[in-house]
Amino acid sequence: MMLVLGIESSCDETAAALVCADRTILAQRIASQDEAHRPYGGVVPEIAARAHADRIAPLIAATLGDAGLTLDAVDAIAATAGPGLIGGVMVGLVTAKALAMATDRPLLAINHLEGHALSPRLADPDLAFPYLLLLASGGHCQLLLVEGVGRYRRLGTTIDDALGEAFDKTAKVLGLGYPGGPAVERLARQGDAGRVPLPRPLLGTAEPHFSFAGLKSAVLRAREAGIHADADIAAAFQQAAIDCVIDRTRRALALAGPVGALVVAGGVAANQALRGALEALAAAAQLRFVAPPLALCTDNAAMIAWAGLERIAVQGGPGAGDPLDVAARP
Ligand code: KG4
Ligand code: ZN
Repeated sequence: MMLVLGIESSCDETAAALVCADRTILAQRIASQDEAHRPYGGVVPEIAARAHADRIAPLIAATLGDAGLTLDAVDAIAATAGPGLIGGVMVGLVTAKALAMATDRPLLAINHLEGHALSPRLADPDLAFPYLLLLASGGHCQLLLVEGVGRYRRLGTTIDDALGEAFDKTAKVLGLGYPGGPAVERLARQGDAGRVPLPRPLLGTAEPHFSFAGLKSAVLRAREAGIHADADIAAAFQQAAIDCVIDRTRRALALAGPVGALVVAGGVAANQALRGALEALAAAAQLRFVAPPLALCTDNAAMIAWAGLERIAVQGGPGAGDPLDVAARP
């Protein structure tokens, strides 16, 4: 059975995974760089690139070791080729090229967003095309109609900040540290969203795009006014953001035509309030709601290996490979 080594290094996680065509994840390791970036309140590209370079080779060796395998057992090597922070992408892709060349196995250059888009099918064998995917992370906020392998229609995207970025900036304003999403969610539980009026940018507009910059500025003004409890601001921000996401997703469902499921992925999918609201929206539309386990929602290498396996299944084994001079994309 096909076994693919996946490598992910496009942001601040260095990750490797061994995934079989039958969806078994034989081993996976993720080295987070949160500690290195925390003093700066966000990911610093140069620090990220150096950390990837330091960690990636031992991480891959350890992942193979966890599975009790050597590279000989691997049928193809898949790596994120972009989009992402270019220094990190280059480290992962060059590593994959070197391994592919040394072992004479095909190289699969994977689009990071394609990894996110297909990862729900790694977790759920019953998830059939087409489905509507809300991808919400620190770097992306998109509504994708996933029609098949290599067939993605972007219905909506953010015109400024990503949703996770808005959570992180709100956390910064409230002095909650980095990464801020989980901290904002925790604080929001103790607050009353009704006490702080905040805008809902783009609500009701025809194209299902997102905008969070105005909301972020409003959070800053609310804090500076000095009259609101931080918990109320956190709750109001989270509610406004969720109202926007639900409205935009409802609009995308209307544009998408018939789909089998509503799927959420990306780090923000960890947010319980958001999950609850999406689940209710799916139920009202009589759709399945699929939220993959968190470890597959946030950046990981299993999703990159899986995207490679999906491509092999469609295009056939050796023919699915990319040339060794394929370029990393920022
Ligand atoms: O997918 P991810 O791990 O990395 C990328 O950005 O690609 O997503 C991380 C983002 C961060 O912005 C983080 O604050 C946000 O997901 N996040 C959350 C929660 N957990 C993580 N946002 C809201 N609520 C959460 N519970
Ligand atoms: Zn990502």
